[in-house]
Amino acid sequence: MKILITGGAGQIAYSLIPLLLSGAIFTNIKIDLLLLDIEPCMDKLEGVKMEIEDSNFKFLNSLTITSDLKTAFSDIDLAILLGGFPRLPGMERKDLLEKNLEIFKVQGEALNNYAKKTVKVLVVANPVNTNCWIANHFSPSIPNENFTSYSYLDQERLSFLLQKEYNAPNQKNIVVWGNHSSTMVPDTSYCEKDIKLTSDNIQFIQNRGASVIEKRKLSSAMSAANGISKHLKKWYYGSNDEIVSFGVFSKGYYNFPEGIFISMPVKTHSEFSYNIVNNLKINDSTRALID
Ligand code: LMR
Repeated sequence: MKILITGGAGQIAYSLIPLLLSGAIFTNIKIDLLLLDIEPCMDKLEGVKMEIEDSNFKFLNSLTITSDLKTAFSDIDLAILLGGFPRLPGMERKDLLEKNLEIFKVQGEALNNYAKKTVKVLVVANPVNTNCWIANHFSPSIPNENFTSYSYLDQERLSFLLQKEYNAPNQKNIVVWGNHSSTMVPDTSYCEKDIKLTSDNIQFIQNRGASVIEKRKLSSAMSAANGISKHLKKWYYGSNDEIVSFGVFSKGYYNFPEGIFISMPVKTHSEFSYNIVNNLKINDSTRALID
């Protein structure tokens, strides 16, 4: 599998690459890995390359580092778009919009011009759903369904909270509705255990990313990479009838505007396919938060 990671010299990539190349995501698949970053980061990327080589990873087939879009995007099967201006303390994710618009425009064009038409794209850089929309918009030759945006970290946060606060480990069918921002709506209505989230719980999930930044002075990286690995695993191998939440191209279900990317319930199947679960009954308090 030919996989591109953008923001290759960044901190999420640093946590993600070992998972990818040790078989923790794709089992038994050799990987041609391309790492893209901007020219000023090439030295750092060279250092990352040295460490990858020194790790002697079992599933690495070839490794390319580059700042050239054509080299990075040509014939890829999967693009993991991590690269973008990072959120700093006191910023909302939407404050990054202007800074990241140009990046996702040129990367969308590069996907359109150089990638396989079957390429799958996972957008992680914030504001994640908008960046995904931009990349998708500028690559009209690639199907909308091939693009997903990242929401899995919020599910993992919620899953841990259920375990810690409600003694409810391993809950399935956790849903996170809406935008990956301080307005996202975590929802446990479809879990096995009947759990009513308090407004404190909801705010905890909504603000967890900011809380991490406040303490680390850097945004989540280890947990982000962990969630990416779970997203990719579920997308490629299937969720086994479990509902998971992905940011996907909206078809208008649940009154979300058509054509935006938004986190909603999906079931995934093998080889990067999914369907939106469009028949859940949303309770009134959750609906009010979504609206
Ligand atoms: C997160 O939720 O931790 C990430 O989206 C990083 C951020 O800006 O909060």
